[in-house]
Amino acid sequence: MNAPSDHHTPSPCSVVVLISGSGSNLQALIESASEGGYRIAAVVSNKADAFGLTRAKEAGIPTAVLSHLAYANREDFDSALTRIIDNFQPRLVVLAGFMRILSSAFVSHYAGRLINIHPSLLPDFPGINTHQRALDANVTRHGASVHFVTEELDGGPVIARHSIPVVPADTPESLAARVLEQEHRLYPKVVAWFASGDLKMTERGARHANITLPHTHEIE
Ligand code: GAR
Repeated sequence: MNAPSDHHTPSPCSVVVLISGSGSNLQALIESASEGGYRIAAVVSNKADAFGLTRAKEAGIPTAVLSHLAYANREDFDSALTRIIDNFQPRLVVLAGFMRILSSAFVSHYAGRLINIHPSLLPDFPGINTHQRALDANVTRHGASVHFVTEELDGGPVIARHSIPVVPADTPESLAARVLEQEHRLYPKVVAWFASGDLKMTERGARHANITLPHTHEIE
């Protein structure tokens, strides 16, 4: 008879993902979840027609829709959203194409456990239309960044970026497609770091495996 084992598998890190649209980053996260040591407990969208909701349902993940149009102001919407998220008791909240500016109450409630992916090499091009703006600025490299969310729009500590070359024939659409492919590799890696307990937000920036990461931190 085998002796009872002292070892037990740690439970996977529970994650809630917020989306507004296609959810291709959500799909990449779904596909890497078991390998990455995390579990997507729920997907919440502010848009009822977000295709990401279909992706979640196909993966058997609970979904919720909370339309911001039903709320008079940002604070009321964000507090209703907080209640939905907290029902699932996530350790991490992941913004994956969630196109809302967040109130300071929301950001501080999830401080250190709220991350976002942004389609530019931050600190360049926060906000929207990043691919067009990168072309207008004649940059030679462009890419995506994952960062902890703070009150400053797209301004929290960068965890990791991935860059690609910009070629003369690029259009906003071609750049967006190539950057998105990189997002799908980058985001699951960062979520897995968080799930392992090795990633923290500190006063001095993001820390991974006891190293404070520079704002320009790039991974392959
Ligand atoms: C992604 O490119 C993501 O970086 C961007 O929206 C897209 C969502 O695509 N997010 C932002 O611009 C946030 N400000 P997806 O729905 O297919 O994952």
